[in-house]
Amino acid sequence: MNQKNTLNADINQKQFLSAFFFQQTTTQKKIGMKTFKLLLLFNLLCQLVLAQGTPPIIPVPNSFEGGSLIFVLNKNTPIQYLEENLKDEAHFLQKELLRKNKLPLSLTKTSRVQPSILLSTSSMENNAYELTIGTDKIQITANDEKGVFHGIISLLQIIDQSEMNGNGISIPSWKIKDSPKYDWRGFMLDESRYFFGVDKVKSILDWMAYYKLNKFHWHLTDSPAWRIEIQKYPKLTLVGGIGNHGNPYAPSQFYTQEEIKEIVRYAHERKIEVIPEIDMPGHATAANRAYPEFSGGGSEKYPEFTFHPGKDDSYQYLTDILREVNALFPSQMIHLGGDEVSFGNQKWASDPLVNELRQRENLSSLKEVEDYFMKRMADSLFSLNNKILAWDEMAETGLPTEKSILLWWRHDKPGQLSKLLDNNIQTVICPRIPLYFDFVQEETHRYGRKWGGNFNPIKKVYEFDISGLHIPEGKKDLILGFQANLWTETVTNAERLDFLVFPRIAAMAEAVWSNKDNKNYVDFSLRLKNHFRLYRNEGLYFYDPFNPEAHPEPTVK
Ligand code: ACM
Repeated sequence: MNQKNTLNADINQKQFLSAFFFQQTTTQKKIGMKTFKLLLLFNLLCQLVLAQGTPPIIPVPNSFEGGSLIFVLNKNTPIQYLEENLKDEAHFLQKELLRKNKLPLSLTKTSRVQPSILLSTSSMENNAYELTIGTDKIQITANDEKGVFHGIISLLQIIDQSEMNGNGISIPSWKIKDSPKYDWRGFMLDESRYFFGVDKVKSILDWMAYYKLNKFHWHLTDSPAWRIEIQKYPKLTLVGGIGNHGNPYAPSQFYTQEEIKEIVRYAHERKIEVIPEIDMPGHATAANRAYPEFSGGGSEKYPEFTFHPGKDDSYQYLTDILREVNALFPSQMIHLGGDEVSFGNQKWASDPLVNELRQRENLSSLKEVEDYFMKRMADSLFSLNNKILAWDEMAETGLPTEKSILLWWRHDKPGQLSKLLDNNIQTVICPRIPLYFDFVQEETHRYGRKWGGNFNPIKKVYEFDISGLHIPEGKKDLILGFQANLWTETVTNAERLDFLVFPRIAAMAEAVWSNKDNKNYVDFSLRLKNHFRLYRNEGLYFYDPFNPEAHPEPTVK
């Protein structure tokens, strides 16, 4: 790790030195030359210790160097961008500085010699950026818009931790060169079990951007309710939108297509891709309430759990749904679920149409029926020029590797990860332990999951990396990144959501972005504590691992 100066270290040094030299002449006289030299040496050592520091950025940048200069940012500082394609990023910075720091800055497409914030591109690796803060210029340079955006986020975080006085905000100098460890830095929110609405989703997107997360996996359909408007099948939301995990009669709640477009736009502005999940063939109970003609039945415990794999009409119906979904989400990726089908596919065994299908297609087991269903739906996605995403149950379905991304979630089945990699499938890593945020974060917490006594404290999230998994050397490139998932069985209100997500999302961000050599939990804790003020400003009810009594665990009510 590089050696750096923090602003505080700088101020401390200055105070220390002026105090030291003020006393120098008298001290020298009093203590003699030898002791004086020893003290001087001690002073230099102190300076070295004080000079070490990390920039106040989460996730920690991969290379950085501090200086002793200060840039004073005030309303007369223009934001300048050199290329037209950086206008949106410059505008984002302008809006954020006004919203958070009450600083109305001007925007120009030139580079004039004056104190300014300058955005530009130059050739370097994708997503990488350089941020240089000097006395008369703050410069962000990157290969592309995403890199410039990452640089802007780092600058905003430094500004959030800088001191404000009469002249403006005093920003300490840094030279940062940074790029992400992984391209897939995801967060999943389940809104079928409980619905949180546009404003909460936008707030989550804000924080994802603040921590440089870039994939929002939106779990919009499941057994309790269907939450996305489909024009061709209005009952999906009118009927399927009724209910939640705790109350099957809760009034219908869902996102209209206009709201979805608004959220996708908002995410795009923050360089976040939104990937909707339309879960099939299982977890389909809500859809089946609306259109029972496409139900493939279920089991005693999970009635009407599946779509019907033996009816051609089911494939047409679901393809029509996916056509509308595709038109709303420009990510060109749709997650089709595929998890836990065996919970409720018992009816398939005796269904005459499923039996016909099995004979015709030579499907010897219900798992083969499931695989047939998924491959057929994947073809619908491919015809829409989309990739298929699905859970790790689909590791051996035979999906084409170049158009598929699967998510390994069953931490108790490492063999499933091996199968994914053996089959050369691009994989996102999101094991329940430690990346399911519906798991409790302290032994004493009552509402939330544990697995054989294990749960997900922030330190475990922070320290997660792939070294504990069996990943052959030649297969490492198949790992796209990590994702944290929030299932919402116990997330009955926004307080519980905040409590489960914050601050573990910051730990996860550093785990997926920063190189192992730069990670240090003690150092992270110091930077994290300074974010709590920001959480308070935004009204978040967060868990404080350093002072758990500050915010008791919210109950499920
Ligand atoms: C899952 O947790 N059912 C993917």
